[in-house]
Amino acid sequence: MEKLIPLFNKLQEVLISANISHIISLPQIVVVGSQSSGKSSVLESIVGRDFLPRGSGIVTKCPLRLKLVKSQETHEYGIFKHIPDTFFDNFDDIREEIKNRTADLVGNGKSISTKPIELTIYSPNVLDITLVDLPGIVKISVSGQSNDIEQSIRNMIIEYISNPDTIILAISAANNDLANSDALQLAHHVDPNGERTIGVLTKIDIMDRGTDAIDMLNGAVFPLRLGYVGVMCRSQEDINRNVTMKKHLLKEEKFFRESPVYGRYADRLGIKYLTMRLNKILQTHINNSIPAIKKKVHDELEANLEKLKEYGEALSSRDAKTGVLLSVIQKVAKSFQENIEGKNVRNVTE
Ligand code: GDP
Ligand code: NA
Ligand code: MG
Repeated sequence: MEKLIPLFNKLQEVLISANISHIISLPQIVVVGSQSSGKSSVLESIVGRDFLPRGSGIVTKCPLRLKLVKSQETHEYGIFKHIPDTFFDNFDDIREEIKNRTADLVGNGKSISTKPIELTIYSPNVLDITLVDLPGIVKISVSGQSNDIEQSIRNMIIEYISNPDTIILAISAANNDLANSDALQLAHHVDPNGERTIGVLTKIDIMDRGTDAIDMLNGAVFPLRLGYVGVMCRSQEDINRNVTMKKHLLKEEKFFRESPVYGRYADRLGIKYLTMRLNKILQTHINNSIPAIKKKVHDELEANLEKLKEYGEALSSRDAKTGVLLSVIQKVAKSFQENIEGKNVRNVTE
């Protein structure tokens, strides 16, 4: 998200100075997919920090609402809503607390909870945005799970992704049949025109020998307007061996670049590219909000004009103020526009 951060923060500064910072909010990003398709892995890669429990089986048993908040302080820390007085500045401790809280919410059974864990991370290096990790869709109830677990997970996911201000990351493992992807079916249900669904294919590294993900990536199996991004997240072995995110990103880049199959698409594959795509979507969202912001600023200043008149302030001074503020917003809007047009990244399917 590095590219977008300075621009968005500049815009927010202007809006705060005009006392209308509430006027713009970024859409939330929600990951959807089957159990163990790699949802938590992808989300964590986007944030760029290790802090989510991952693994085979149902690890994510309740929604995690992760709110990133830009702070002035130089260090990063997290606060859970259920223990608001405890500051977490170690991301391993954050992962442990997510595990503990999950156990408290779901009990010892293998069921899930619709009650979310709410975590806020304060950092100087983030955008004000909310990311949601959800339990995966399970097909067969394992013993100990209630029979309607599949339906309750589906209902919960639909509730989250129905919000039109949500970007859906529909995660599917490349080593499964994409035509049966739960993620894509659920996303299609709430976003039939595919305006806010990005397909993400994980586990490209462990597909059957002799098969590849090219047809899936090209949209030949399940067409998607915003297309697909293929990624390689850390395997269980990588996690066990504490392979860092940074090290893994290099490995992922090398994997795609040097692959005889994926090499020619390498600049449109990987976690970095996925983050770029998300940035572009967020930029478009902000850009679309600019006219409304301009109008709001104008109205606000017009309203204040009446007050200024009462104090007998000169008209020219009012015009100057309006002019300065609007021109700053105009500039920010322009730089968003240039960012979008300048980097017209294309997807494999486009
Ligand atoms: P979730 O249940 O959808 O949240 O999936 P997780 O993120 O917990 O991942 C499930 C398992 O798959 C973990 O052991 C991950 O290490 C592994 N995994 C996820 N993505 C990939 C991938 O792209 N390649 C490989 N080899 N393993 C992956
Ligand atoms: Na899992
Ligand atoms: Mg998970």
